[in-house]
Amino acid sequence: MVKLARKKILLGIGGGIAAYKSAMLVRLLVAQGAEVRVVMTKGGQAFIQPLTLQALSGHPVHCELLDPEAEAGMGHIELSRWPDLILLAPATANLLARLAAGMADELLTTLVLAAKVPVWLAPAMNQQMWQAAVTQRNLHSLTQLNPHWQFLGPDSGSQACGEVGPGRMLEPQAMVEAMIAALTAEAWQPLAGKKILLTAGPTQEPLDPVRFLSNHSSGKMGYALAEQCQALGADVVLISGPVELACPAGVQRIRVQTAREMLAAVEQHLPQCFAFFAAAAVADFYLPEVAKHKLKKAEQQLDSLTLNLLPNPDILATVAGHQQRPSWVIGFAAETDNLLPHARAKRVRKGADLILANQVGMFDSGMKAENNAITLIADDHEHSFAMQDKTSLAKEVMTYLCQQIFRN
Ligand code: PMT
Repeated sequence: MVKLARKKILLGIGGGIAAYKSAMLVRLLVAQGAEVRVVMTKGGQAFIQPLTLQALSGHPVHCELLDPEAEAGMGHIELSRWPDLILLAPATANLLARLAAGMADELLTTLVLAAKVPVWLAPAMNQQMWQAAVTQRNLHSLTQLNPHWQFLGPDSGSQACGEVGPGRMLEPQAMVEAMIAALTAEAWQPLAGKKILLTAGPTQEPLDPVRFLSNHSSGKMGYALAEQCQALGADVVLISGPVELACPAGVQRIRVQTAREMLAAVEQHLPQCFAFFAAAAVADFYLPEVAKHKLKKAEQQLDSLTLNLLPNPDILATVAGHQQRPSWVIGFAAETDNLLPHARAKRVRKGADLILANQVGMFDSGMKAENNAITLIADDHEHSFAMQDKTSLAKEVMTYLCQQIFRN
């Protein structure tokens, strides 16, 4: 079944190497029944031929602001009023800068300036360009000035230029799924306008430049929850330890390594939070004095090694007792035995409203696995969710929370 039938999407393509992925994006949108019109900047045309996009979308591609022939067909103002949604992918540093400055010097920025419909931007650029203060400032002004604009990504990982870091454009499939969730009539958005903060994945506590203390958390459970919160309309900030997962579409991800970095990022994003989910498996201890050089067993003639570790801050307990405490503080309990008694005690000890208890230490569920089962523990009742894959489990848990808990 096609899910975007009769939806009108205007795709703006900026001048970055990720433009090649936009061809696949058009193909996927058309396959879902969407009507797609493409607008390209000059830079975009340097990376991919308009003819390719014309063939895939079935419509002429718009490239010029002052083209009498095109204006006679669908003029630029009319074109800006036509879609249900405008998606800029790739949104390059240059495109973001020109939008932030309100430039209307070519067709795409002019259209966006004249648009009344939602505008989504999928940034794609070199990691240093993404992290540059001026790009971040442009991003900040764009979100401040246009609260209804939405950023998809960027993701982190290896880049076409050979560097590694944030700035990769989200995969076309993830963007299409986000559009389906946002544009289809059945989209149920009980968390619209609410900010949700989550932690996910492990933390790593360095011992020396090449070694660290950590655990087997893959981040899958926390990421699945983040994705569901976003699908239910929330503004989602995900503080993630080092994991191999792609950032869910529409979610703002902040990557950290240690528990202390995780706490700092959480506190920074705590203001105005509706709910906090602590799904991360935080290392309990850290080494205060990390060796500057690799510890050498042979040189030090070590038969054994004693590390003087200090306890890490408890992020969940800190949030639960914080001046800016969210309305709902939700922790996890990962236990290998006596799951429920330990989890109940943990809820009280850490000051959480709810604990999601999951058994770990089994090969086919819990930490690292694809599947999980959860018992939700509140002060006055408990509710179990059967073993299933983490995506559908997160969906069930979030539906239950929205219908039964968050309304109280
Ligand atoms: O990442 P996956 O492979 O998908 O696995 C998911 C999971 C099993 C890691 C996840 O579902 C889970 O249970 N996360 C919490 C793991 C854990 O550390 O549990 P805990 O019982 O040690 O901690 C209790 C709670 O306190 C947790 O919410 C934890 O995030 C939080 N905590 C713990 C220590 C600390 N210093 N700060 C914390 O915030």
